[in-house]
Amino acid sequence: MTRKPTPEDRFSFGLWTVGWTGRDQFGEASRPALDPWEYAARLAELGAWGVTFHDDDVVPFGSPDATREQILSTFKQATEDAGLTIEMVTTNTFSHPVFKDGALTSNDRSVRRFALRKVLRNVDLAAELGAQTFVMWGGRDGAEYDGAKDVNAALDRYREGIDAVAGYVKDQGYGLRIALEPKPNEPRGDILLPTVGHALAFIAQLDNGDIVGLNPETGHEQMAGLNYTHALAQALWSGKLFHIDLNGQRSIKFDQDLVFGHGDLLSAFFTVDLLENGFPGGGPRYTGPRHFDYKPSRTEGLSGVWESAAANMETYLLLAEKARAYRADPEVQAALEAAGVLELAEPTLAAGESVADLLADRTAFEDFDADAAAAREYGFVRLNQLALAHLVG
Ligand code: GCO
Ligand code: MN
Ligand code: MN
Repeated sequence: MTRKPTPEDRFSFGLWTVGWTGRDQFGEASRPALDPWEYAARLAELGAWGVTFHDDDVVPFGSPDATREQILSTFKQATEDAGLTIEMVTTNTFSHPVFKDGALTSNDRSVRRFALRKVLRNVDLAAELGAQTFVMWGGRDGAEYDGAKDVNAALDRYREGIDAVAGYVKDQGYGLRIALEPKPNEPRGDILLPTVGHALAFIAQLDNGDIVGLNPETGHEQMAGLNYTHALAQALWSGKLFHIDLNGQRSIKFDQDLVFGHGDLLSAFFTVDLLENGFPGGGPRYTGPRHFDYKPSRTEGLSGVWESAAANMETYLLLAEKARAYRADPEVQAALEAAGVLELAEPTLAAGESVADLLADRTAFEDFDADAAAAREYGFVRLNQLALAHLVG
């Protein structure tokens, strides 16, 4: 057993995670729904520091203004009483059938205008509640059929929408940053901005991209067969890792949203190693919340919901301990050294060296012994085995 989570660990959960009642494509709910404040209070008892939510998780879609105000003030009071931080807010632009062809990129302009209004209203709420991050996941923004979406126009409309929201955040002087959440598919056959790489390229095209970054989710990259830790790394390198959604996924299949670590455990270890210890050679660090976006399996009742929530935090803390020991281990240090991992931080050209200088350097090419260099053994397998031994030891 590891230590209990505390608010200093900055663990946070989406209300929709523990709040998932188990309704899926094939079956009805397998658990009762509680009020949002009940989920929040219970998460705080378990040691969580923060909660996050979609507008509709707290205030049902279409509620009259007076009802909305009343629910929000109850919720706000409850989170305050529980000592919880509302660190992130996001907008549901996927459940209501009006969004069946997407929100900011629906073919129907009136839907795009409605979606933008729904998002802007939620930006006001996020700012009022003191959130730092505003996640935008365009889950319905995509297509099943290639002929049904003009992707050029869709990306234009996506850019227009995100730039409008980011511009509004700036005009209002809100201290919010927008985090886009990539996902390859589900619920759409293909979703726009399917991976971290696509989203980074998209952000580079924005006018207000300085306050737009990413919220990469473990399972979403893994659904595309990609390496989540590498995705976090490139987002960090780009200065765009604004938020994270940790969970578990077992290979390329439907979005499982398992407990963190219940998918690819070795990958989870290196995710935590990066988050806790940073790059081996130094570089940008992630300092935001450790946010979980998982679903308690449909087989579990309410006690299983709380167990699974606790399991996410326990796994993270266990892996953090292991990752610390891994980095501190002299054998690992030596193996990192032998593997050349730390050499990579040295620039390829010397300080002040030009390409002309390189071209003139015979040792770099003409006299370079490629066969001798090819004979070098890197010992990556041994290094990985040391990681594994720490992980299971
Ligand atoms: C999913 C997504 C969502 C988003 C959430 C935040 O696959 O369903 O991960 O859970 O994270 O909608 O916008
Ligand atoms: Mn997911
Ligand atoms: Mn998510």
